[in-house]
Amino acid sequence: MQSIFAQTAYSSDEFWLPYNQVCLSVLCEGSLIEITEEGPKQSYYILNENSLLKLNKNSVLVEEMAVVKWKKISRFVECIESYCFGFKLVGKSTHRTFYVENQYELDKWVLNLSFVGIMENISADYFFVEELGKGSFSRVFLAVENTSQKKFAIKCIQKKDLLRRKNGLSHIINEIEIVRKLDHPNIIKLHKVYEDIDYVYLVLDYIEGKDLHKRLQTKNYSEEAAFFFVQKLLKTVDYLSSHNIIHRDIKPENLILESMDNDIEFKLADFGLAIEGSKNIEGKCGSLGFVAPEILKEQKYSSNVDVFSCGIVYYTLIAGHTPFKGKNHKEIYFNNAKCNINFKEKCWAKISIAVIDTIQVMTKADPHLRPSAKKVLRNNLFKTVTNSQESIDDSLNNERAQENLGENKWILEKMAERNYQYMYNQDQIYLMHYLSVMFIWNTYWLYRNQYLNNFYPI
Ligand SMILES: Nc1ncnc2c1ncn2[C@@H]1O[C@H](COP(=O)(O)OP(=O)(O)O)[C@@H](O)[C@H]1O
Ligand SMILES: [Mg+2]
Repeated sequence: MQSIFAQTAYSSDEFWLPYNQVCLSVLCEGSLIEITEEGPKQSYYILNENSLLKLNKNSVLVEEMAVVKWKKISRFVECIESYCFGFKLVGKSTHRTFYVENQYELDKWVLNLSFVGIMENISADYFFVEELGKGSFSRVFLAVENTSQKKFAIKCIQKKDLLRRKNGLSHIINEIEIVRKLDHPNIIKLHKVYEDIDYVYLVLDYIEGKDLHKRLQTKNYSEEAAFFFVQKLLKTVDYLSSHNIIHRDIKPENLILESMDNDIEFKLADFGLAIEGSKNIEGKCGSLGFVAPEILKEQKYSSNVDVFSCGIVYYTLIAGHTPFKGKNHKEIYFNNAKCNINFKEKCWAKISIAVIDTIQVMTKADPHLRPSAKKVLRNNLFKTVTNSQESIDDSLNNERAQENLGENKWILEKMAERNYQYMYNQDQIYLMHYLSVMFIWNTYWLYRNQYLNNFYPI
């Protein structure tokens, strides 16, 4: 079976290539044996995040390298001469077979190769339990790893669908390459990639709490919970921008909550439309209702399209739906492109002006007026609350800080004490000011009249 990844730019016709790499971190190293016509040949090899390096016999210099990324890895136990344990690396039109001394060495090499290449025979390694969710291009299942009994989420993408879609192959390659590179507490982790005749499988962290779209069907977010959620989301987008990555599909279905009883901790998933770059990006993609208008208008765009989607998520958390309504696809498309967002609904009456202002800034139709995630985090609303939160965090003792669930509740209570202005909406503050001025004015007149009466009794 020809791997769909064999067509990538990395897949060369030659197995061994001249060494031309900067230093990458080492995953594992040791002796491997190749059976050649002249008999078994042992050499020293190093596996890094990208390639297998073959060292020169008499020195520590790298002689040749093979790009392992996108090569298929198949392990076997089959005795040739006195060697039994081995693995095969299969490239576009070439392959190589390596033997190791024992089972332990084989497990070590295959495990580390699985972080870089493409594995086969998923059913030998995982037991599929139930469906967790369905996306536009995939089905995601809960599965248990046979060796460790640990739970994982496996995203299954049909190759037929992938090849039928415009840029389908480059999307899956981007998704794998980008997620493998990222390391952030709010971004889903990709452990391994498998491929068989019909499917590509992404083995991901299993996140228990269901996606935000499902959570919003049962409850809306309070102002405080929405604030914390969006603050984390903006920090995640800022991390992506600092790695020159745009997600391009931030929406509730792609935000998975850590647990059923926590509304704030989440992981950003589905990097199927993600792209490397920051400016002058082309390509119409995203999800209607959350996509930035410049994408719909087929203009070139930059990383702040993700900020727009975060702004719509902020709106959706409070209102329970996106601001772009319509009876059909055409109407929603029109409203999304026009970007007319109103806050007339009843739920907005009790939300502070600062929050509404922030959503308006994040969802500016003109991308030149829309700030980056970093700038939004520096905006008054996030800045003030972040500073108070940091000072509260400092005062948290370690034990308390580790109680993840209790922590959010506790910070919210502390914030209610310290940042009362964010707990009242602007109208309530005006009313309080008005009442205090009226009280002072009336008291003054009362005393004045009494004083004058004393001098000029009628
Ligand atoms: N790691 C995961 N843990 C739990 N559920 C998940 C996980 N990844 C995805 N899901 C569920 O599967 C759905 C589809 O996954 P997604 O990656 O968005 O696929 P697609 O690219 O097809 O949209 C998500 O909306 C979510 O409900
Ligand atoms: Mg999705």
